Amino acid sequence: MYKESPFQFGRSPDRRYATAMLIRERLSRAPAWPRHAEERVMTARDRPALRAFEETDLFAVKSLVHRTIAACYPGHYCMEAVRFVANYHGDGAILEDARQGCTLVLEKAGRILGTGTLVGDEIKRIFVEPGLQRHGLGRLIMQRLEAQAALLGVATILLDASLPAKQFYDGLGYATVERTSLEVENGRRLDHFKMRKTLTGLDGQPW
Ligand SMILES: CC(C)(COP(=O)(O)OP(=O)(O)OC[C@H]1O[C@@H](n2cnc3c(N)ncnc32)[C@H](O)[C@@H]1OP(=O)(O)O)[C@@H](O)C(=O)NCCC(=O)NCCS
Repeated sequence: MYKESPFQFGRSPDRRYATAMLIRERLSRAPAWPRHAEERVMTARDRPALRAFEETDLFAVKSLVHRTIAACYPGHYCMEAVRFVANYHGDGAILEDARQGCTLVLEKAGRILGTGTLVGDEIKRIFVEPGLQRHGLGRLIMQRLEAQAALLGVATILLDASLPAKQFYDGLGYATVERTSLEVENGRRLDHFKMRKTLTGLDGQPW
């Protein structure tokens, strides 16, 4: 009777496929920044640069948003809520917001590592590559969008904060208007906070 040798087994298409999938999964989890990044301060030279979104960035921005949701939301939200948020940030919404407002991307060596959008008086879609969070990049995007809002004459900025991002916005001076929730699939809820910040001039007074 034919007996499969371990070498033949090792080369079987199923095993190769499984190995390829494992490598792909591990690579997708690898931080975009070297492992020791958490222990060092990001220098100005290391920093990705901010620029305006172009339509050719769509795929990279959507990928960034979706992998950040996959990495950051499951500890805070149920599966239905995570899926709802991922679906909300589709091609159409990203393009429409960029056309109607101002979308920024943080880019380094051709990779998009952060994004944020101002539409009217609302800031939305602030996402930073999971392996690069807590290096001041989110703050950088917010500062630039707030400056843009001020230029456009916006007096008060509004935003919807996710549970994991609430403290980030607290630290940037946003006040919580209310904690609210949205019904998603299977009667589950997507909790978030409505927040606002009144922009002030150099004298610290509102516009
Ligand atoms: C929220 C987010 C954009 C913040 O970006 P970031 O680059 O990590 O933020 P920064 O490094 O600029 O943080 C600035 C300050 O905010 C605070 N902060 C940021 N993330 C925080 C967190 N998870 N918990 C508590 N404080 C936080 C800290 O005070 C930080 O200053 P510190 O580094 O000196 O402590 C990023 O964590 C992210 O993409 N999260 C997942 C997606 C998301 O929820 N986006 C918001 C949609 S509403």
